[in-house]
Amino acid sequence: MVSSGTGPSKGAVVRGTWLVSSTAAGVTEPTTFQLQGRQWDLLPGVFAPTYCASTGFFTESIPFPVGGSFLEVGSGAGVTTVTAAAKGCARVVATDISAAAVENTRLNAARHGLSDRIELYLGDVFDGLEPEERFDLIFWNSPFIDSGADGRPVHDDTRQRLRQAVFDPGYRAHERYLAGAGARLTAAGRLLLGFSDLGDRDMLRRLATGAGYRISTLRTSGDLVRGIDYQLLELVPDDQ
Ligand SMILES: C[S@@+](CC[C@H](N)C(=O)[O-])C[C@H]1O[C@@H](n2cnc3c(N)ncnc32)[C@H](O)[C@@H]1O
Repeated sequence: MVSSGTGPSKGAVVRGTWLVSSTAAGVTEPTTFQLQGRQWDLLPGVFAPTYCASTGFFTESIPFPVGGSFLEVGSGAGVTTVTAAAKGCARVVATDISAAAVENTRLNAARHGLSDRIELYLGDVFDGLEPEERFDLIFWNSPFIDSGADGRPVHDDTRQRLRQAVFDPGYRAHERYLAGAGARLTAAGRLLLGFSDLGDRDMLRRLATGAGYRISTLRTSGDLVRGIDYQLLELVPDDQ
């Protein structure tokens, strides 16, 4: 289901809307789930790694910089962030625009005894980080479905937060990610993005080119993962 780049793909929007509705109806109070051989807390309104396979696929595919620093944008329930610390990243920082997600990541860092190595920030993309902070690897399992201009009005906070985890109208947040990442990477730092064939690859390519990157595909899930091809992408600077 590759979009033409001329606007949101209807199939992708339908799939994303199903994901938001299912999660909103299915997670109405704090609960737990199992993934990557661990038990995790899940709060209502937070992207649920149980309704699709992206979190597990990306977490097992990311080349974590053992001994180095890792930044996860949009940490959600915190599976990838906690795994980065557990696998030996010396410094792990997570941000999310959702206060519920930041709290959820905090819960899971504590549940796995890794709070002392994980810093959390509430904010849009890189907002909230100290100006001098740089990372060896930056990753975002992004809200890769473009819902079009501004999406439909949503009056329920939980649903609004979930929509923000799945949809990025006009890819404006992706644009900020690409524009701001360069100033957040160490000299040999790498910039990754968790994407899928529900996303608009043409639009992403245009944004990447505008920000001085080309896209390299590190790993894809194939369509075996519930009919969606998840793609771990690297944004490689043009001069490399
Ligand atoms: C697809 S979910 C992934 C969550 C988690 N990393 C995972 O893999 O389970 C995208 C996450 O990005 C967050 N997000 C959306 N827009 C954001 C923004 N502008 N800045 C920071 N985080 C954002 C959402 O709140 C959500 O937690």
